[in-house]
Amino acid sequence: MTTGKSRPSCFTAYPLEDYSAHRDDIQRALQRVLERGHYILGSEVATFEQEFASFVGVAHSIGVANGTDAIELLLRALDIQEGSSVAVPSQTAVASVSAIVRAGATPLFVDVDPVTFTMLPESLDQAIHSPAGTQLKAVLAVHLYGHPAEMDELRGLCDGHNLILLEDCAQSHGAMYYGKPVGSIGRGASFSFYPTKNLGAIGDGGAVATNDTALADKVRWLRQYGWRERYISDFDGINSRLDELQAAILRVKLPFLIPNNKRRRSLAAIYEEGLSDLPPIQMPVSRPCREHAYHLYVIRVKQRDALMKYLTSRGIPTARHYPAAVHQQPGYAALAQRSPPLPNTEALVPEILSLPLHPYLTREAVKYTIDAIRDFFS
Ligand SMILES: Cc1ncc(COP(=O)(O)O)c(C=O)c1O
Repeated sequence: MTTGKSRPSCFTAYPLEDYSAHRDDIQRALQRVLERGHYILGSEVATFEQEFASFVGVAHSIGVANGTDAIELLLRALDIQEGSSVAVPSQTAVASVSAIVRAGATPLFVDVDPVTFTMLPESLDQAIHSPAGTQLKAVLAVHLYGHPAEMDELRGLCDGHNLILLEDCAQSHGAMYYGKPVGSIGRGASFSFYPTKNLGAIGDGGAVATNDTALADKVRWLRQYGWRERYISDFDGINSRLDELQAAILRVKLPFLIPNNKRRRSLAAIYEEGLSDLPPIQMPVSRPCREHAYHLYVIRVKQRDALMKYLTSRGIPTARHYPAAVHQQPGYAALAQRSPPLPNTEALVPEILSLPLHPYLTREAVKYTIDAIRDFFS
């Protein structure tokens, strides 16, 4: 029991907590796979693919090695490669962008909404009408931090300009947009099962989701050397298979995704109640008709660095997602010249701070964090 202002001992690591919560079932699942002796693309992957497709509300899910490959394979399966551009927010995990480059296409950076941190339709419109917009073939909407992007507006723009709308759902498993699960709205979607994700493996993993059977088939072939038939490559594919052991673990965890997201939302509500009257802080929002998955709980605050240092001194782990937008990182800076201005992105980067949030965090830990933030501003 925590009293007064002592630091609760509950700022625990989510991946380990998530394993501990399901230890026996995970060990049984691993044993089952080990003793079956079928270690690559066996029945665990096939069954998980069906279960995950049904969770996302799509006809097909294809297990791949990680979320970056899921984006690359989607693009390659759609022939969005050399000579094509893909619009993507610069405010995202670098993987959204590196996957586009790996597919052979060129990223075209787009600005984000200053409150939801997801792609700003007005900025996409600007990008479409810019000189670089002529090569645009697809738009990769990222449901960043778990908040669904403005899919209706983005779809309107895509339909009007013959662009393919894709979703990067690496941070948004279980988020909903007007009653539809994210991942079921665009032509295709990518998911990551990196251990910290809302649905996390114990290692790398990823999936593509789609209702398009031809697209699903092509991704399935490309993930394994372009084989339609064993040992005959009809396409230039890669090796990107979801591991059988990871699929077995994901099958144990999938039934807990909805209750875990609910728990994330109830902890978010405690932050909301405890901090929303503090003017220096811009709180995360969940826009009407969306269900936020709260993968991360990201506030905006001008005194970000000082607050971060103070919270560290009080034993509270925080992080910056991310310390630089992708166009500000040396590896991708050259691409920035082709993009429209990104004023919202550049303004938010020095102000964003991720507070502790995961389903195993106690209410006391959240309250302790709230008290520490209030102390900082008092
Ligand atoms: C928004 C986003 N896209 C893509 C990825 C890539 O996923 P992975 O790490 O499984 O390759 C991540 C993971 O960090 C992500 O957060």
